[in-house]
Amino acid sequence: MRHTIDQIGLGFEIAFFVAVAYVAARIIIGLVRFTVAPWAMKRNYPRAWWIKIQWRWLSRNLSLAYVDPHQKTKIRAAMGPAIGKNVRIEKTKRTKVRYPSVHVRADSYGVVVKLKTIPKVGRTELENASEHLANAWRCHRVQVSQPRPGRLIVRGLRTDPLVARFGPEGAPAGTYTHPHPFRPYLGRDEWGRDRHLDLSGITGITIGGLPGYGKTSLVLSLLHQLAGSYAVQFVLIDGKGGGDYAEWAARSWMSCGDELDQAATTLEDVHSLMRYRLANVVDLTGHRNAWNEGPTEDFPLIVTIVDECHTYYDLEAVKGEKEAEKYVRTCRTMSAQLVKKGRSVLMLTIFLTQKQTGDAIPTAIRDNCGIGLCGAVKTRDAAVAALGEAIRDYPSYCPTGLQKRPDYIGVMTASLPTGADPFVRLRVPEISEAAADQRARETAHLRSDPSTIRAALTPDLDPAGV
Ligand SMILES: Nc1ncnc2c1ncn2[C@@H]1O[C@H](COP(=O)(O)OP(=O)(O)OP(=O)(O)O)[C@@H](O)[C@H]1O
Ligand SMILES: [Mg+2]
Repeated sequence: MRHTIDQIGLGFEIAFFVAVAYVAARIIIGLVRFTVAPWAMKRNYPRAWWIKIQWRWLSRNLSLAYVDPHQKTKIRAAMGPAIGKNVRIEKTKRTKVRYPSVHVRADSYGVVVKLKTIPKVGRTELENASEHLANAWRCHRVQVSQPRPGRLIVRGLRTDPLVARFGPEGAPAGTYTHPHPFRPYLGRDEWGRDRHLDLSGITGITIGGLPGYGKTSLVLSLLHQLAGSYAVQFVLIDGKGGGDYAEWAARSWMSCGDELDQAATTLEDVHSLMRYRLANVVDLTGHRNAWNEGPTEDFPLIVTIVDECHTYYDLEAVKGEKEAEKYVRTCRTMSAQLVKKGRSVLMLTIFLTQKQTGDAIPTAIRDNCGIGLCGAVKTRDAAVAALGEAIRDYPSYCPTGLQKRPDYIGVMTASLPTGADPFVRLRVPEISEAAADQRARETAHLRSDPSTIRAALTPDLDPAGV
């Protein structure tokens, strides 16, 4: 007996020392981390502690905690009045409130809260509460993302990493000197991750946003990267009719300005090439899907850029003008066909317009574009038009939050096929007009005419199939 009591005492001592050592180790690690942290991060330590301390109170008040309906019941048997079968069962309900457990840490931009979901409190609830969380944490914005089921990351931003502008020098090494021909760099997200866009299998990209928020600049960045290969040929249709792409005309298979008839003819030519390719893709590439081999000099990726695309698709604007109406209809039909049928024959079309609503770009085109990018917009409806209905469920990503802030020029919300979240905010590198023009001149010799290539390569193929 004595022996057993000694053993228990020893066990307690060991457990006590292990607990003390664990706490001491945590404190030392915390102190070391704090000491080596940059000043910007140190500033956010008190906030992180405060958020941790008041989390239960805050989550209760924002309905992010819940009362477990399957409460444990304390059953107490008590003797009732001394008559007959005199046992009375008394039940006392104990209220059990469940809170999402959190791990809070500071970073250079604010706080990062890792959170475990609980029943009825998931991403949607956190998104809906994001405005109140931002107020309570004195953060300028709160961003919710879900890395895996059951886990959320709620980021409170006191300073937004996306406001820091950068140019080609800030992009990953080689982005503009040795770019990947079909996987261009898009920009950097708010976690500092560099995001690329794999073009394989994509037929349409929409780029929206208020004037002056960087749509054309993003396209210049893409052109800069894609221009270095014979395997990519461009068609430029500039609805502004300005000089944005003037230098790129020499590098493009075809280009035109804001004249409706020319745009219609150009789109008809691109469409005709698509039909020819569809009819002969197996003979030309050995595959039914040309992406299996990828773009080549003889079968290049055709990137058609339609800037200010409302110029060519707005039927209301030309109502009553017979000729113009005919051209607008042609532009709409050809563009829709390119997006719907162009996947296996390497046709990619990029549509830019300020507000991606049905009058500016037909929904048959817009809704079939796999990728959407949107800079600042004024209304939630404009954001929905650009990024789809799903953006309503992710208010913390909504591009309405980017307006009236000049430091958000060049920042876009994107719906990309990669990454844990359906949306991501990106800062796009700024490409100066001079740098883009120079690239256009340097790569002009890589221009080719895919329609003559096809004729030279396959004289026996029947052009009537076009
Ligand atoms: N990524 C960027 N970073 C910082 N500034 C940028 C960026 N992109 C564009 N800008 C600035 O914004 C200006 C307008 O950009 P851009 O011409 O691309 O806008 P836009 O959205 O195409 O406008 P519009 O609808 O009028 O054609 C540029 O001249 C440049 O000064
Ligand atoms: Mg523009």
